[in-house]
Amino acid sequence: MNELIRDVCYLAAAASFILALKWLSAVPTARRGVLIGVAGMVLAVSGTLIQKEIVEYKWIVIAFVLGTVVGVPLANIPMTAVPQRTALSHAFGALAAALVGTAEYYLKATKFTHFELSALALEVVLGFLTFTASLMAFGKLQELIPTRPITYKNQNIVNLGVLAAAIICSVLLVLDPTKSYLFPIIAGLALTFGVMLIVPIGGADMPTVISLLNSYAGLAASAMGFVLDNKLLIIAGALDGASGLILSIIMCKAMNRSFTNVLFGAFGQVQTASSGEVEQRTVRSATAEEAASFLEAASSVMVIPGYGMAVAQAQHKVRELFDVLQKKGVEMRFAIHPVAGRMPGHMNVLLAEADIPYDKLLEMEDANSDLPQVDVALVIGANDVTNPAARHDKNSPIYGMPIIDVDKARTVMVIKRSMNPGFAGVENELYFEPQTLMLFGDAKSFVSDLVKELSGGGGH
Ligand code: TAP
Repeated sequence: MNELIRDVCYLAAAASFILALKWLSAVPTARRGVLIGVAGMVLAVSGTLIQKEIVEYKWIVIAFVLGTVVGVPLANIPMTAVPQRTALSHAFGALAAALVGTAEYYLKATKFTHFELSALALEVVLGFLTFTASLMAFGKLQELIPTRPITYKNQNIVNLGVLAAAIICSVLLVLDPTKSYLFPIIAGLALTFGVMLIVPIGGADMPTVISLLNSYAGLAASAMGFVLDNKLLIIAGALDGASGLILSIIMCKAMNRSFTNVLFGAFGQVQTASSGEVEQRTVRSATAEEAASFLEAASSVMVIPGYGMAVAQAQHKVRELFDVLQKKGVEMRFAIHPVAGRMPGHMNVLLAEADIPYDKLLEMEDANSDLPQVDVALVIGANDVTNPAARHDKNSPIYGMPIIDVDKARTVMVIKRSMNPGFAGVENELYFEPQTLMLFGDAKSFVSDLVKELSGGGGH
């Protein structure tokens, strides 16, 4: 009877996970997607807890309490810290898979078939390497360790050598499972490889790498499903593995980079101004009052939001700006770059939170075809995604990344606090263009000042 209930729970859980992924892929259904995903996980855990193999619940209850103590504060972090939070949860998931694989090996190594042993080796290698790699990614994003890429000669060959050694030891262990001395060597090599994999990758590429690690953690869980003969783990792990991979591909495409370039290209080193000529260039800045008069005189405004809008939590003020301009008959729309911010869909989530109508959000291609007719392009805390150097400067690290063609608009206004570069660490040519006005300040307070000016409360 227990088995029947478990199987029904697992079946319903698998269906819930598939629906969750489907609904999560569109903003209007995303909340529903989260809820059904949670329901699926409750079913999966419940189905597992009623298995008759469980002899006592004491350790499970302790683990549950500990997990809750760690998990609840983890869920209450600002949205800008989601990439590092995701890195930590992958680290835990991957460690769990690796430890289950370790326990299974030491409990019943000789009882496994070659296929099951291969799945176990895959689970352990992927689990341990994802564990240390995710911790490193967390450290880089949280700036606990240097975010710049650390490289040395023949690094890729050394790294691949460590991975190859882990694979060779795994093959030997699969062929002869009694060679138990190989197991700690495999675990050690995988843990080391995880660290070495992340060392040469810069902070700017971490979100893409985290998505790839998500995929590895999913594949480790799926391999664990084969070892434990648990079909739900196979399905859930495969969904996780595939979605993480697809997301990494989407992110790489949006930055016009290849996987190999992200993993081995040492991108994200902060560039210092290379010539005196660059340093001497001047920019034009404007006050909120001047900027408001440009907005008021415009018939169309395109907002390009970026990471700075998220940091400043300016989205609600942006909504007020939208309302006040709409009242004045000015059309305000939003150009969304696929990698604006620090995670996929970052801008969509923030603007949805502020109830900006979805039909005002344009994808990059549509925005670019409209921008030459736009009176004012208002950049709010975005930088790299607007840098024209990506189109023509072959020496720029962001060369080839599709950008929002902000420089094609009649007037460009950029809200940011300073001349500091964005995540890729490169200076933005846009700021020196004749049609560009810099609006220096925090995004939330500057937009708030704009709203005051436009509502007639500017105090002048
Ligand atoms: P960035 O290029 O990182 O620029 C953000 C700008 O916001 C900074 O230049 C900063 O300038 C400004 N800023 C920070 N805090 C602010 C505040 N409180 N008020 C006003 N401005 C503030 O951001 P972006 O244009 O959104 O580009 C995203 C970058 O992340 C790209 O390089 C992209 O490749 C990378 N990336 C993104 C993803 C995803 S999935 N989104 C994945 C991988 C990589 P100041 O310091 O002068 O204020």
